Amino acid sequence: MAKNEKNAPTMDKSSTKLNILEIDGVPLLLLSKEMWDEICNFPARPDDLILATYPKSGTTWMQEILDMIQNDGDVKKCKRGGPLERYPFLELKFPHKEKKDLEIALETSSPRLIKTHLPSHLVPPSIWKENCKIIYVARNAKDCLVSYYHFHRMTSLLYDPQNLEEFYEEFMSGKVVYGSWFDHVKGWWAAKDTHQILYLFYEDIKKDPKREIEKILKFLEKDVSEEVLNKIIYHTSFDVMKQNPMANYTTLPTSIMDHSISPFMRKGMPGDWKNYFTVAQNEEFDKDYQKKMAGSTLNFRTEI
Ligand code: A3P
Repeated sequence: MAKNEKNAPTMDKSSTKLNILEIDGVPLLLLSKEMWDEICNFPARPDDLILATYPKSGTTWMQEILDMIQNDGDVKKCKRGGPLERYPFLELKFPHKEKKDLEIALETSSPRLIKTHLPSHLVPPSIWKENCKIIYVARNAKDCLVSYYHFHRMTSLLYDPQNLEEFYEEFMSGKVVYGSWFDHVKGWWAAKDTHQILYLFYEDIKKDPKREIEKILKFLEKDVSEEVLNKIIYHTSFDVMKQNPMANYTTLPTSIMDHSISPFMRKGMPGDWKNYFTVAQNEEFDKDYQKKMAGSTLNFRTEI
């Protein structure tokens, strides 16, 4: 049972598993499926910046970095709202908001930053047609799996997995919302050969944020002073973001995210999977991984 603040609405997860339906073989939330025509017909603009990720790969982190870049390191401006308030999620509608994020995006003036967890073959065609710049952040599958498991437990948007073993099976067979991690990272990796995509890795940002932020600045054709660059690195570090209510999701109603079950800003550390995988699971994972990633040039670090 979720531990909730006094008088806060409790999390109702009774129908969350029923709220998942497939589009083109990819499980998506029912609410995304219901607005599928709107998503497909979404009119991207040439100066849109798209932030694409598989869930739990560092979306919020990258959003903070991009917001700091766009606001020249002005921390106050970046605290104007929580992570779900500042930039829209293309395919989502959140229970605490009146409008769909897509509607908000339509009303937003350019240049826009739009987030999505969709696999590359499901994003609106206008994104390709308008040649939008896209930043994709990928995170190693083991840490993604563990992070996604804990996220399921703490958010009412997703069903409660029985245990990690059950979730492990679902993740590996792609039966989770947004589908197979393997197809997602490979699909976007292939797309980068023909589109303006900066493909980044969570583990690289963790290891050397300065180098990775410099890559982003180059991709966005933006210049910032050394002082602003250092400010961005500091403000977007895990410890600082974890303490920032405008970055750590604690401003959301407990009925949507219950941080007493598992905080959104949980560990933020490559290699945390070692605390969860059994030796047998790890061996099975590695075998399955080799098969599923065969022929791919993608390389992930599972620790730093
Ligand atoms: P963990 O659950 O492993 O801690 P997303 O925003 O895509 O949902 O990803 C959430 C994951 O990114 C969580 O991982 C969260 O802690 C981590 N994260 C968020 N901000 C971070 C930061 N500044 N540095 C490192 N990890 C961060």
